[in-house]
Amino acid sequence: MMRPNTASYLFSTCALLMFSATTLANSGELTYQQVCASCHTPGVAGAPKLGDKVKWGALIKEGQVQITAHGYVGVRGMPAKGGKPDLTVSDFAASVVYMANQSGASWKNPDDAMMKKIDAEIQRRQAQLRK
Ligand code: HEC
Repeated sequence: MMRPNTASYLFSTCALLMFSATTLANSGELTYQQVCASCHTPGVAGAPKLGDKVKWGALIKEGQVQITAHGYVGVRGMPAKGGKPDLTVSDFAASVVYMANQSGASWKNPDDAMMKKIDAEIQRRQAQLRK
C-alpha cells in the first residue's frame, strides 16, 4: 500500500509536469528562442529574418496552414521540425505564429480545425517529396 503522503507527492509532481508542458506548448516565443532563433534571427542560409516584413509579407500571404506545414516538413535550407526531431506540430505552429506576428501578421495558435488542415498538408507534402 502506498502511504498517503507518497501519493500526494506523486500527484503534485504530475500536476506540476502537466502544468509546465501546457505552458511550454503555448509559448511560441520560447520555442522560437530555443530552436529557431539561431537561423531566423541572423537570417542564416536565406532564412526569413524575424521582423523582415518584406520576406514575411510574402509568406504571410501564402497562409498559415501552408507555411506551417511546409516549414515542418522542411524547405531547402529549412530543416524539418527546425532540426529538433521531437518538436511537435503544435509547438512548431506556435513558433511560426510568433515569428509571423513579429513581422506584421496577427495570427493565432491553430485551433483543432486548422491543426487538421496542417496535418493534412504535412501528409500531402511528405508524399510529394517521396516521389
Ligand atoms: C538551420 C537553420 C534553420 C533553423 C534552425 C530553422 N529554420 Fe526556418 N528556415 C530556414 C531557411 C534557410 C529558410 C528558407 C527556406 C527557403 O525558402 O529556401 C526557412 C524558412 C522557414 C519558413 C518558411 C517556409 C516556407 O513555406 O517557405 C518557416 C515557416 C520557418 N522557416 C519556420 C521555422 C521555425 C518555426 C523554426 C523553429 C522551430 C525554424 N524555422 C528553424 C532555416 C532554419
